[in-house]
Amino acid sequence: RQRPVIAIDGPAGAGKSTLAAHLARRFGFLNLETGAMYRALALKAIENDFAFDEEAPLLELASHTRIALEPQMEGNRVLLDGMDVSRRIREQDVTSAASQISIHHNLRAWMVLQQRALGQQGGVVMEGRDIGTAVFPDAEVKIFLDAAPEVRGNRRYRQTIPAPSPELSEIPADSGRQVPPPQSAEEQRAAEEAILRDLKERDYRDRHRAESPLQPAADAVILDSTAMTLEEVLARAEEIVRAHL
Ligand code: C5P
Repeated sequence: RQRPVIAIDGPAGAGKSTLAAHLARRFGFLNLETGAMYRALALKAIENDFAFDEEAPLLELASHTRIALEPQMEGNRVLLDGMDVSRRIREQDVTSAASQISIHHNLRAWMVLQQRALGQQGGVVMEGRDIGTAVFPDAEVKIFLDAAPEVRGNRRYRQTIPAPSPELSEIPADSGRQVPPPQSAEEQRAAEEAILRDLKERDYRDRHRAESPLQPAADAVILDSTAMTLEEVLARAEEIVRAHL
């Protein structure tokens, strides 16, 4: 290939997507989110009532499935058999199903082949769990982005809270518009704990599966963002990329 591959791996909620989108913009590369491919197939499995723990039917399903990733400024538009599923695949049921179907050996091999085809020209930032270890073991740059589980859970939780909207307070009380009641502190704590539980469960499955378990490639630069701001992470990653290109 003529241009480099930048591989970004790490556990859920470490900030891989944000980092990948930033690096892609900065260096003029395409940003490809491989997790979205597992999510898209998981969605098709849900819609067709497939069990997540039986590989053969899932593989058969995959063999007549088309998944396309269209890089955008922020993240990817994801097409499943031509249908835009970009939003749907972020929901909780798909998230959990993607984590469960991703343990299967041949299914991963099918994904890896497609991901290699997508990135073979280079000039891509590819993000996932096994990019530096399995998809592109020869990637020019490998970053393993990590953070303590509690920090990742808290960041994910804060993404779920809508940003305070100044217009809301300006809506007259009798306008008929429904304003959702604010969550109590207890509800907030419960919601954050549920997110953390789910994240730990997915991590556990990713790290302990037999097939391409989540682990840093021997030659990856490990970036632990636990005590870093977003700006610091982006700046450090840019340095790493520049040093390797
Ligand atoms: O990154 P994202 O959360 O969208 O990935 C969804 C799921 O797909 C993950 O929980 C992981 O189990 C699986 N995955 C994977 N290998 C990748 C990308 C994602 O196993 N390269």
